[in-house]
Amino acid sequence: MNHLTQEPKVQAQDVDIMPINGTDYIELYVSNSKQAAYYYKTAFGFQSLAYAGLETGVKDRESYVIIQDKIRLVFSSPLHSGSDIGRHIDAHGDGVKINALWVEDATKAYNDAISRGARSYMEPKVEEDKDGRVVRSGIYTYGEVIHMFIERKDYNGTFLPGYEKWAPRYEAESTGLKFVDHMVGNVELGDMNKWVKFYEDVMGFKQILSFDDNDISTEFTALMSKVMSNGNGRIKFPINEPAEGLKKSQVDEYLEFYEGAGVQHVALNTDNIIETVTALRDRGVEFLNIPSTYYDTLLDRVGEIDEDLEPLKDLGILVDRDDEGYLLQIFTKTVNPRPTMFFEIIQRKGATSFGKGNFKALFEAIEREQELRGTL
Ligand code: FE2
Repeated sequence: MNHLTQEPKVQAQDVDIMPINGTDYIELYVSNSKQAAYYYKTAFGFQSLAYAGLETGVKDRESYVIIQDKIRLVFSSPLHSGSDIGRHIDAHGDGVKINALWVEDATKAYNDAISRGARSYMEPKVEEDKDGRVVRSGIYTYGEVIHMFIERKDYNGTFLPGYEKWAPRYEAESTGLKFVDHMVGNVELGDMNKWVKFYEDVMGFKQILSFDDNDISTEFTALMSKVMSNGNGRIKFPINEPAEGLKKSQVDEYLEFYEGAGVQHVALNTDNIIETVTALRDRGVEFLNIPSTYYDTLLDRVGEIDEDLEPLKDLGILVDRDDEGYLLQIFTKTVNPRPTMFFEIIQRKGATSFGKGNFKALFEAIEREQELRGTL
């Protein structure tokens, strides 16, 4: 094959059909946005950023935006009965509604996504205030979760039009959380490949990893997972589905209590996991307990690491190695009354994977929690 005919094909493969700069924000629908914002500030070390509600001319909801380095979380609650937010909370409990993606052109992102088969949530909408102009649009992904496309290159305000700066007297100290590393979705049995295809076809993502029930299973439970990544690797969405096991898997438990597919966990990156997790634990964040025997053979499994073993063991931090380096990770207990959503704290030292070597220890820890709930 001559060079000239080959070249366009190579270029076509390299074109990112959905350029995304990064995660813009994650919005949760919760029953009490004011108290949720206070909890995440106090326990997780976020700072106050912006507010929308009756005082800013918003009539139907109250939203608080908090920030820690590049992570922005929004908590929204309805002000009246009969709202879509209220219906969402009644169906799912508190949970992630919006994963917002920062793009250069929210109109093009939307039109392209729709032309490739996405379901519309919100047509491109221009919103302006004294600080400039923002374009937002939105599409559905699994369950009732939305991807909003946010175009903010002509905006200098605190967060978005409709929001005002929120600067209360109380602020909590940072715990060293830096950015959203990945966000995991749980989908119904048999649906994983459908959503893999959605991220490939509609969003131009590539599958970078896959785990089957041989990788992710314990004596009792199993699940399957595929990890989707966007072109520049800043957005990573693992998608889980339950697999047949002797007992109910954590994904089944999630689907039952969330009443459908949704966001299972958000992983937040730190560059010093020992300091971050020490601070989080001191402030009341509860983590899964890992048996001390995990650490007896840890260094045999992962080789030499920079960290002392003792604090890792004391905090229950897991370690795994891949071809490129190693990672340290830990998982909170579920953060809501329903056993649905939780957070991961992760530090990467070269590793780009997701801790496959820890799955067994992790899932056994989750099973001990399920046992206490009687949901295994
Ligand atoms: Fe994770």
